[in-house]
Amino acid sequence: MEDLVEVYELQADMPVGVMDSGLGGISVLQKIRQVLPQENCIFFGDSAHAPYGDKSLAEIRQLTANVVNNLLRQRVKAVVIACNTASSAAGAILREKYPWLPIIAIEPALKPAVLHKIGGRVLVLATSTTLREKKFKKLMESYEDKAEIISMPLPGLPEFVERGELDSPALREFLQKHFSALGDKKIDCGVLGCTHYPFVRPVIQELLGEEVAIFDGAEGTARQLRRQLDMRGLLNMRGKNGEVIWQNSSKDTHLIELSKQLLG
Ligand code: DGL
Repeated sequence: MEDLVEVYELQADMPVGVMDSGLGGISVLQKIRQVLPQENCIFFGDSAHAPYGDKSLAEIRQLTANVVNNLLRQRVKAVVIACNTASSAAGAILREKYPWLPIIAIEPALKPAVLHKIGGRVLVLATSTTLREKKFKKLMESYEDKAEIISMPLPGLPEFVERGELDSPALREFLQKHFSALGDKKIDCGVLGCTHYPFVRPVIQELLGEEVAIFDGAEGTARQLRRQLDMRGLLNMRGKNGEVIWQNSSKDTHLIELSKQLLG
């Protein structure tokens, strides 16, 4: 990981830094804008290095640290890791490195899914790294006696979203192929454990069945950010709406346009 950034004083009028391996984290930014409309946010998409999901842990840690350090150099008052993969690979390490900074790291919304139907069958969709790492293993251990939990990695799905391909025959074929592995197992709840997936949620919902309850971690993350800022007296109390500053490691300027469209 890169060198430490020096400690600075956090202030309420500083922006919040939100990061993802690419554009997926915009699904979390949407909720942050709803829950904390008055905050200014810097959204940093690391699209030049997306997807993170099939990289080594060391690489994901390095890339995440680079983005977080970049945000710190811009003097953010909090960092939201709006990427489940980066959270599971680097969240704990970054918290240890920057104990003075609120770092909110998303995780798959397994709890609300399990509690929605105790004894039901929950399908967790996420990257291979998220599903393999300690953070999710621990989460699973807390709930595996309350539901049947099936984990399914979907390598290749973030790339559809990065291209802005949110519904197409190729996307449907891709998802259908993966879901066919479920055979005739009936699913009660689905968890979108990668922040890219909510952008293709209507197709996932249609293919899994309209009766399947689908959860993602965006709202919980936004509320957690509000709690953390509030606790430290860092909420921006001014009356007017905040702005989003778009940044991306890719030189493809079309990505900023696509980012704005995804935010809606
Ligand atoms: N958006 C990221 C997540 O939430 C993963 C996509 C990727 O593989 O880069 O896990």
